[in-house]
Amino acid sequence: MRNSTAVDDHQNLASKTYLSKAIDVFSEHDLHQLLIHCRRNNAAASVTGALLYHNGYFMQLIEGPLGAITSIYDHIQADSRHEILSVLFEDEISARFFPDWTMGYRAAAGMPFEPLDTIYETAKVSTTRFPINDFLLMFGE
Ligand SMILES: Cc1cc2nc3c(=O)[nH]c(=O)nc-3n(C[C@H](O)[C@H](O)[C@H](O)COP(=O)(O)O)c2cc1C
Repeated sequence: MRNSTAVDDHQNLASKTYLSKAIDVFSEHDLHQLLIHCRRNNAAASVTGALLYHNGYFMQLIEGPLGAITSIYDHIQADSRHEILSVLFEDEISARFFPDWTMGYRAAAGMPFEPLDTIYETAKVSTTRFPINDFLLMFGE
């Protein structure tokens, strides 16, 4: 079976990262349900990415075929459970950051707080200084 990376050879790949604020606190259960939903939808649309949740804020990177990214982001944006604060990164890409993950996830629990705070604080004040490398490092092994 061909994997998503092989399919990518023939499609325009796009990536988008945004910062949003949860309207109500997400419990572990809410987050779990959200992830099940995302992973199912994203797998069907050949979309991969990563999601951080910290102190009531989300930061999510989605990547995949341009049409799929536009459509999934439209849904995400319309979701009344959170409010988009800013789009931090949006561009065509030549390769995926997360080719194997339908939606990698990290929560504040068990995470080093200082780098997370730095990422969020930087993202909140400046989209041009969005520390994408620090974000990606959060998902390293
Ligand atoms: C922080 C956050 C991230 C989300 N990420 C995704 C996602 O990556 N993929 C997805 O399909 N839905 C995502 N959703 C859910 C969508 O907003 C929406 O509920 C869903 O796409 C609707 O899918 P349905 O038409 O199958 O019900 C996210 C929602 C939130 C609050």
